[in-house]
Amino acid sequence: MERTFILLKPDCVQRRLMGQVIARFEQKGLNVIALKMLTITPDLAKQHYAEHVQKGWYPTLETFITGGPVVAAVIEGLEVIRVVREMLGATNGLNAAPGTIRGDYSSSRQMNLVHGSDGPEAAAREIAIYFTPAEICDYTPTITPWMRASDET
Ligand code: TYD
Ligand code: MG
Repeated sequence: MERTFILLKPDCVQRRLMGQVIARFEQKGLNVIALKMLTITPDLAKQHYAEHVQKGWYPTLETFITGGPVVAAVIEGLEVIRVVREMLGATNGLNAAPGTIRGDYSSSRQMNLVHGSDGPEAAAREIAIYFTPAEICDYTPTITPWMRASDET
């Protein structure tokens, strides 16, 4: 079982799309195992987006991501890192395919509603930035036997 980190960005919270976005992950059969609301500080933004800090567009990204509350979450499921990235769609909402979260709700390169880890290393790093081990709830939903066959692991 794999884990990924997602962040509902300030545009998602302000546009009241938190419930709809989380519902998509739940409907897919993925498990939400950690969830918290917070406001990202400039320091935390630089830590989260370390790979982008040197980019010319980083200052506007920092202003955006620190501009309102966000919701951080850990999601668990089979191949969940790839599955969530595919559910998000392309970075720029204008390019994201219809049916994806960004494709259905975003018309922006920056205000694309949701972050998802792009690989196992990023997932482990990002989960550790936002959550202590004690904040992650390890549980098996009782519906699991009706979500996939027992040999699908
Ligand atoms: P990136 O890691 O390229 O995209 P993704 O979120 O799909 O992994 O970029 C991180 C975030 O930075 C992206 O979600 C939106 C923002 N961003 C900009 O504000 N301007 C840009 O030119 C790009 C490429 C990204
Ligand atoms: Mg990225």
